[in-house]
Amino acid sequence: MTTRGANVYRCQECGFASPKPGTCPDCRRTGNNWVQLVEERPAASRASRRANVAAARPRTLKEISMEPDDRVRTGIGELDRVLGGGVVRGSLVLIGGDPGVGKSTLLLQAARALAQAAPPVLYVTAEESAAQVKMRAERLGVAGDGLLLWPENDLSVVQAHLDDVKPRALIIDSIQTVFLPDLESAPGSVAQVRECGARLMTLAKGRGLATFLVGHVTKEGALAGPRVLEHLVDTVLYFEGERHHSYRVLRAVKNRFGSTNEIGVFEMAEGGLVEVKNPSGFFLAERPREAPGSVVVSSLEGTRPVLLELQALVAQASIGTPRRTVLGADYNRVCLLLAVLEKRAGVPLGSQDVYVNVAGGGRVTEPAADLGIVVAAASSYMDRVVPSDVLVVGEVGLTGEVRAVAGLELRLREAAALGFRRAIVPQSNVLEPTKVSLDIRGVATVGDALTALLG
Ligand code: TYD
Ligand code: MG
Repeated sequence: MTTRGANVYRCQECGFASPKPGTCPDCRRTGNNWVQLVEERPAASRASRRANVAAARPRTLKEISMEPDDRVRTGIGELDRVLGGGVVRGSLVLIGGDPGVGKSTLLLQAARALAQAAPPVLYVTAEESAAQVKMRAERLGVAGDGLLLWPENDLSVVQAHLDDVKPRALIIDSIQTVFLPDLESAPGSVAQVRECGARLMTLAKGRGLATFLVGHVTKEGALAGPRVLEHLVDTVLYFEGERHHSYRVLRAVKNRFGSTNEIGVFEMAEGGLVEVKNPSGFFLAERPREAPGSVVVSSLEGTRPVLLELQALVAQASIGTPRRTVLGADYNRVCLLLAVLEKRAGVPLGSQDVYVNVAGGGRVTEPAADLGIVVAAASSYMDRVVPSDVLVVGEVGLTGEVRAVAGLELRLREAAALGFRRAIVPQSNVLEPTKVSLDIRGVATVGDALTALLG
């Protein structure tokens, strides 16, 4: 019976311990003399704790000095942007994504630049043979002595050799295929993934090692293995993309060293991943001119506005319940907006099939695209064209009101830079003084927007 940190009174005869002073209930010396319990001080820990008090105590914010993060640029601008300006030494970064999306390609390309900035880089390939990775490296034009490939699944072996290799960056491809032999469970099991993650965290922090882990994603879209991996690591990035589209988006869902709002956009090409510096131009490249149902909206990803083409097709339903098919936007949100369009603007969609798609495989997640969805559906229903030089921005409420959006000026500047001439924006947003060379028109309701754009 001991309380950690508190005094303990122990019988020197039988070892009985009590938190209170007194006599031992079991031991008696000659006669009726009870044995006194002797106070034991947890001496060492006390002393060291007292010594630590000066060093470790709560401090005010003012007292805490800030050292700039020790970052290394990966040489891939879009990756650095998502990481928050490069990878921090001693941090653990998890990159998740569907099989084949390009995780190994991205990391091999990052390894190339890291190997120049902070050699050597150790790439532990637990999924593919060294020859397979070399083949990919040749395809990507990755060469040089700073990059060491190691096909090894046993993490304890990797750990044992870290002193010889002395890498400054470590890549584990993937966390589900490495294992620790002291655990009995199979690689990829919850216990293995958790323990391997924890071991790598200790190594990363202890050695100031920038560590990247590849993580597989389950069918449901979550990182396979325990959620604890996401809690454990410093940064979680998801690499996303549609199988049949070449563009890929890297998104931070957790970042202890930066914002989680930034995205990186890439295109998967013959020679590997190519950064897309101008995503708006990329998504609008094939936009049809003067086509009913096509509207350009703006999606703000962190500090970066991306213009996307929304397409709607409204067609007479044949029989039964009309279809609603949505790609690249939230299904329920679109249904809600179609109901608003019908009830508040009198566009009868009850007997119409509606298809909504974001062109190029893009994705809108922001309410700021609401008004664009409503206008696209109305444009297709009426078979009237929304002029192609107009940007449509606004959140739509259930009463048909158009609500203000964040970052309007950024969005409008991007549109102006891409040659747009007009913008339909929420009336309440217009009040902000904006300095953009666009003809800006504020609308208060969905009806106003339809009148302004479709007559
Ligand atoms: P990969 O990086 O192996 O994906 P992951 O590690 O996420 O499973 O990339 C797989 C796909 O990328 C593969 O289908 C081929 C394609 N790819 C290219 O189109 N160009 C390239 O230069 C490379 C290396 C791969
Ligand atoms: Mg891979």
